[in-house]
Amino acid sequence: MENKTWYKEMSVYQIWCRSFCDGNGDGIGDLWGVLSKLDYIKSLGVDGIWFSPIYPSPNADYGYDISDYKNIHPDFGNLEVFKQVLDGAHERGMRVFMDLVINHTSDEHPWFIESKKGKDNPYHDYYFWRKGKGKKRPPNNWDSLFEGGAWEYDEGLDEWYLHIFSKKQPDLNMDNPKVREEVKSIMRFWLDMGVDGFREDVITYISKVDGLPSAKVKLPAATGMQYYADGPRVHEYLAEFKRDVLDFYDCFTVGEGSLMSTNTALGYVQEGENQVLNMMISFSHMQADCLVTDFIQRPFSLTKLKKSLSEWQNGLYPNAWNCLYLENHDHPRIISRYGSEKYRVESGKMLAASYLFLRGTPFVYQGQEIGMLNNYLPNLEDYRDIMMKNNYRIARKLGLPKKKVFEMAQKGTRDNARTPVQWSNEKNAGFTEGTPWFGVNPNYPEINAESQLEDENSLLNFYRKALEFRKENEVCIYGDYKEHLKNSKDLYVYERNLGERKLLVICSFTEKTVRFDAPEGIDLDEGKQVFGNYESCFVIGNGFTTRPYEMRVYLF
Ligand code: NOJ
Repeated sequence: MENKTWYKEMSVYQIWCRSFCDGNGDGIGDLWGVLSKLDYIKSLGVDGIWFSPIYPSPNADYGYDISDYKNIHPDFGNLEVFKQVLDGAHERGMRVFMDLVINHTSDEHPWFIESKKGKDNPYHDYYFWRKGKGKKRPPNNWDSLFEGGAWEYDEGLDEWYLHIFSKKQPDLNMDNPKVREEVKSIMRFWLDMGVDGFREDVITYISKVDGLPSAKVKLPAATGMQYYADGPRVHEYLAEFKRDVLDFYDCFTVGEGSLMSTNTALGYVQEGENQVLNMMISFSHMQADCLVTDFIQRPFSLTKLKKSLSEWQNGLYPNAWNCLYLENHDHPRIISRYGSEKYRVESGKMLAASYLFLRGTPFVYQGQEIGMLNNYLPNLEDYRDIMMKNNYRIARKLGLPKKKVFEMAQKGTRDNARTPVQWSNEKNAGFTEGTPWFGVNPNYPEINAESQLEDENSLLNFYRKALEFRKENEVCIYGDYKEHLKNSKDLYVYERNLGERKLLVICSFTEKTVRFDAPEGIDLDEGKQVFGNYESCFVIGNGFTTRPYEMRVYLF
């Protein structure tokens, strides 16, 4: 029996505030800007907003290094304006989810500053402070995912602290019950204010193997990961947060883990008494054109993408729920990756249909709905992304040529998703009246929200219609999933079924013409074409020949 619930039926819009919309003219997106766009967000047909971190932060990792969990970054506003946003969203029938980053804090968080003061300080054990061999050798051989080794030496203490991300992001010691109480208090703070749940950052990293052993098997730039990804007590801690806090609220959680199998994910999200998260953000479908990280690019492979999507669709069926996305603040723009900049609108609509109608809760990232593209900057110094800069250093150290590495950086950087949202063809794309904190993509005169609002055939209106359709047709939400033409290198075809209803989605991932024949048992003439990205869609002999990046959706 399907467990029907609101978070399965919703779709969510993700805001990375710094680049969303500037309301006070200082060049930085903020909550006043969000307030002014609530109607726009609602008009997309979404039911919730996920805010990437908007807490005070020194911005070593743009908000994912938090220095105060119970406040708002002054660049973005204050608690008062946040409450206005929260109320405004609720009045419009949208929920609000906060990013909860508890694997690490900023090194400027008062807990860390205290922890450095001495071994007897009550906050010392909030973090992983360990002895190494003096200042020469760290306590183990783990890598930081953002810069060199995972340990930083402190002269005063003659100890090292662990940081899996940058040295400005020291890892919290979740084994300390006081730290877990702090987490609960943070959760309650936001839930009591009215927030509806959390996206939990790298949540599968929060429990480290006892003794923090050196890794015998080295992983490229990620040595040690085997000792903290899905660590020994992560389920126990998440169950504790659920039991002590989350169960008292009508809220939802989506976890972010590293690359994981569907079986590992089920351990967290399978419905039943051991469920600790509602959904898990999967990664493998974001690797159809790269190797592990967006930095190491490969030619796009549709079969790789389909394999991953189907693995998660089937693997989580029927008792767990997928988190569906193609873009967020950590990945380059999807049209520039899996689609075609030349066929921007066509491929944008096709990509939207390729995932919005899958089984799961769809997330749409700011600017995705208007088809924003990557923005390639001329110099390394023009970029801000700490992760890309780390990858750049590693690649150069390995001896790869400068020009090649820079091209990889341009294509693979997270900054591609972090350029200001293009609202109109006015100065600075209507993002700010001041000087934008980060370069606006010069293509804004052609690609902007305003020009798409009234255009029936725009990508923006496609997203609106598709999200509305999903809401009105239960087959899109609760239907089962079946893939066709698995071996096709050009077409992604899937079907959803619920009772008498069937949805058939056909997506061409190529500029070439390809003949599509309806799968056995399906007569296209019996269905109604509900979506497409071209005019005049004929069916000839129970199939058709695709045009570049053609997409059709039939309802039976
Ligand atoms: C995942 C977040 O999405 C990313 O932006 C961040 O850099 C890391 N976690 C570290 O918090």
